[in-house]
Amino acid sequence: MNKPEIVGPPRLFRAPGRVNLIGEHTDYNDGFVMPAAIDFFTQIVLSPLDAPVLEFFSENFKEKVVLDFENLPQSRRRHCSDYVVGVALMLLREGYKLRGARLTIKSDVPIGSGLSSSAAIEVATAYALALGSDLKIDRVELARLCRKAENEFVGARVGIMDQFISFFGAADRALLLDCRSLEFEHLPVPPSAQLAICNTMVKHDLALGAYNERREQCEEGVDRLKALIPKMTALRDVTSQQLEEHRKELPEVIYRRCRHVVTENERVLAAATALKEDDVLQFGDLMNQSHESLREDYEVSCIELDLMVDLARGVEGVYGSRMTGGGFGGCTVSLVRRDKTDEFKNRVTAGYQEATGLTPEIYVCKAVNGAEELPMSDML
Ligand code: GLA
Repeated sequence: MNKPEIVGPPRLFRAPGRVNLIGEHTDYNDGFVMPAAIDFFTQIVLSPLDAPVLEFFSENFKEKVVLDFENLPQSRRRHCSDYVVGVALMLLREGYKLRGARLTIKSDVPIGSGLSSSAAIEVATAYALALGSDLKIDRVELARLCRKAENEFVGARVGIMDQFISFFGAADRALLLDCRSLEFEHLPVPPSAQLAICNTMVKHDLALGAYNERREQCEEGVDRLKALIPKMTALRDVTSQQLEEHRKELPEVIYRRCRHVVTENERVLAAATALKEDDVLQFGDLMNQSHESLREDYEVSCIELDLMVDLARGVEGVYGSRMTGGGFGGCTVSLVRRDKTDEFKNRVTAGYQEATGLTPEIYVCKAVNGAEELPMSDML
C-alpha cells in the first residue's frame, strides 16, 4: 500500500479530565453522580488521510502506530494506543463510516491518578473521529461508545460517569447526572470556593481487582434484595429505610457495601440541593460524610487518602474533603475558601511530606467545558 497522503487542513479537538465532587461508586448502580470537568486536557490534532487507516502518534510516549480500519486489533495490547483503537473499533462496529485520519495526541491530565486521563483520550478521539468524518452522532451516543471501548476493549468494567462528564462539562458548573436515565443538570460550583485536588502520588495494585470485586458485591446485594423488595432492579431503587428493614437478611459485608451506595445516592441529591441554595457548609459536610462511608462501608480508601483528607480538614477555610474516583490511591478533592488556597497548599504539602516522605501534587482547578473543537492557534 502507498503511504497515505494528508488531504486537508489539520483540526484541533480536546477533551477534559474530571474530578468527582460526590457520588462515588454509584454510577454502575444506576445511581447519581456529581463530577466536574477540570482544566486538564487531552488534545488531538486530526489530519484527514486519503486511505482508510488510523495513524496514531502520542507526543507523551513518543509512540507511533499505523493500523488499517479493516484490521484493527479486537482487544487491548497494553499499549498507549489502546484507548484510541478501542474507540475507533466501537465506532466502526456500530456501522459508522470513518475517514482515514492521522491523530497526534498530547495530554496534560495526570496519568493513573484518578482524574480520568483515559476517558479524556477516549472522548477526544471519539469527538475528533466523528467530526473528522462528518458524522452527526450525539454526545450521549458517543459517551456510550467510549464507555463500551473501556468495558469491552480495554477490559475495565467502569460506569459511564467519566466519559459523560468529559463530553458534558460546563464552565464553573458541576454536573448532576442520573446514570440510569442519563438526564442531567448543571449546577454552580460555589463562587466563594475553589476545587483543590491533592494527588497522593500512590496507586495501589489492588485497585482494579477491588473495583471488580465491589461491583460483584453490589450485584449480590441486588440479587438478595430483589427477592425482598418488589420492583427493584438496582441499588438505586432502595431507600435507607428499606435497607435497614432487610439488614438481617444480608451478609455483613454485602450490607455495608449496599449501605454505602444507598446513602451516597441520598447524599448526592442533598448536595445538589445545597448547591442550588449556595449552602457551601452543607455541601462540604456531605463531602466529608461521603469519605467516611467510602472508608468504613465500601473500604476503597487507603492510608494515604485518609491522611490527605485529615490534613486538608485541618486547614481553616476547608468546607469539605474526600477521596475522589475509584480509590486505593490517586487524588482527594477539597472545597476550599478562595482566600485560603495558598495556605491550604503549603500546609497540606508540608504535612504530607513529613508523614510519608512523598511530595504531593496539588492542583487548584476550574470547572470547564466538555469536548470541543478549537482553532489550531489554541494548541497546548
Ligand atoms: C472509576 C470509574 C467510574 C466510577 C468511579 C467510582 O473512576 O471509571 O465509572 O465507577 O471509579 O465512582
